[in-house]
Amino acid sequence: MAEDFIKASGNKIEQYNSLVPQIAAVIAGESDLIANLANISAMLKTQFNWLWVGFYWVKNNELVLGPFQGPIACTRIQKGKGVCGSAWQQAQTLIVPDVNAFPGHIACSSLSQSEIVVPIIHKGNIVGVLDADAILPAQFDETDQLYLEQIVQLIPIE
Ligand code: SME
Repeated sequence: MAEDFIKASGNKIEQYNSLVPQIAAVIAGESDLIANLANISAMLKTQFNWLWVGFYWVKNNELVLGPFQGPIACTRIQKGKGVCGSAWQQAQTLIVPDVNAFPGHIACSSLSQSEIVVPIIHKGNIVGVLDADAILPAQFDETDQLYLEQIVQLIPIE
């Protein structure tokens, strides 16, 4: 399978409306989790050019780094730690407009100023999180939450 990704212009909603069906098409018919997470990371990075975007997956009750695009990142995050571990513990999406004001934020890159973390739920359990970081403050809002929550639901999970 080779796919050409079309990067949309326009406002954020228009960009997501172009992106979501392309993500659905690329992962359709592919059951391999790592392959799908890698392509989703690449498409989000290409569309929005955030500093970092990728996945952490729950393994032995901690979050372990998965496929991502961006600078090197910390590999393991405990439940309740950082934005990722907090989103996992609270079982909800967290939007952080200023990471410096978030108690316990884990700074994988000093360039990161804002962040969104979306839990990935499978059969009632959180199996991982989607994390995105931006170099601008307040980069993420409810629109990102809405669409990123849609995107993680597209991921086929065994
Ligand atoms: N900032 C995250 C850690 C992961 S990196 O940003 C890629 C956190 O506080 O959980």
